[in-house]
Amino acid sequence: MQKLEQIYEGKAKKVFKTDDPELLIVDYKDDATAFNGLKKGTILGKGVINNQMSNRLMAKMEKAGIPTHFVRELSQRETLVKRVAIVPLEVIVRNISAGSFAKRYGVEEGIVFDQPTIEFSYKNDALGDPLLNTYHALALKLATAEEIETIKNYAFAVNEVLKAFWAECGVTLVDFKLEFGKVADGSIVLADEISPDTCRLWDAKTHEKLDKDRFRRDLGGVEDAYAEIMKRLLDHDAQ
Ligand code: TMP
Ligand code: ASP
Repeated sequence: MQKLEQIYEGKAKKVFKTDDPELLIVDYKDDATAFNGLKKGTILGKGVINNQMSNRLMAKMEKAGIPTHFVRELSQRETLVKRVAIVPLEVIVRNISAGSFAKRYGVEEGIVFDQPTIEFSYKNDALGDPLLNTYHALALKLATAEEIETIKNYAFAVNEVLKAFWAECGVTLVDFKLEFGKVADGSIVLADEISPDTCRLWDAKTHEKLDKDRFRRDLGGVEDAYAEIMKRLLDHDAQ
């Protein structure tokens, strides 16, 4: 499959057309940003890790009955995906308090919830991805009520599969962000990526951060953390 014209460049990925109008090629970069692009940097090797990790995790979702955009890995950094119209919602599921949740509600990080939470942000960089509820999403016609219901169900299902998988790797899934898209027939699929850029992953024993918070918070050891979390996944899948 040949890369044709580039149609999009985001903060972490580029997207190219192919000769099939329903298929696109995603190319993962090492660029890292935080705080809506205010903080910029490079995490060497991140593109390779995020591409390969996301593809393996997407395949696990498919196996669990959650449809995704994933088609086939093409190279270390490139993947063939279904063309989707992205639903402009960032869907965040949390199992443990951290990040903006801890800040917004004035609680410490690390509180384990009795049940997972879900929240939506309007995917709009110019507005700083403001938090919204489902009524707001409907008012803004970002998705239909039925689509939002499907997205919620898929997001919680992803949480169950992901939480169980990472637990087997000695990793606690704190929270994560998903994006969904609509394929040609109008059905909803999981899109974007599942990676240390989009998840908080803590070592189950030491609570050491093995994700992008090391970059966001200048904790150091960023590349090592990405390598370690990828190793955990590969070691698990080799068993
Ligand atoms: P938050 O606590 O900053 O709202 O982040 C929740 C989760 O979403 C966390 O796992 C990091 C991820 N995330 C993204 O993937 N992209 C973003 O732009 C932000 C703000 C968070
Ligand atoms: N990728 C996001 C940005 O640059 C933020 C984040 O992941 O923290 O804005």
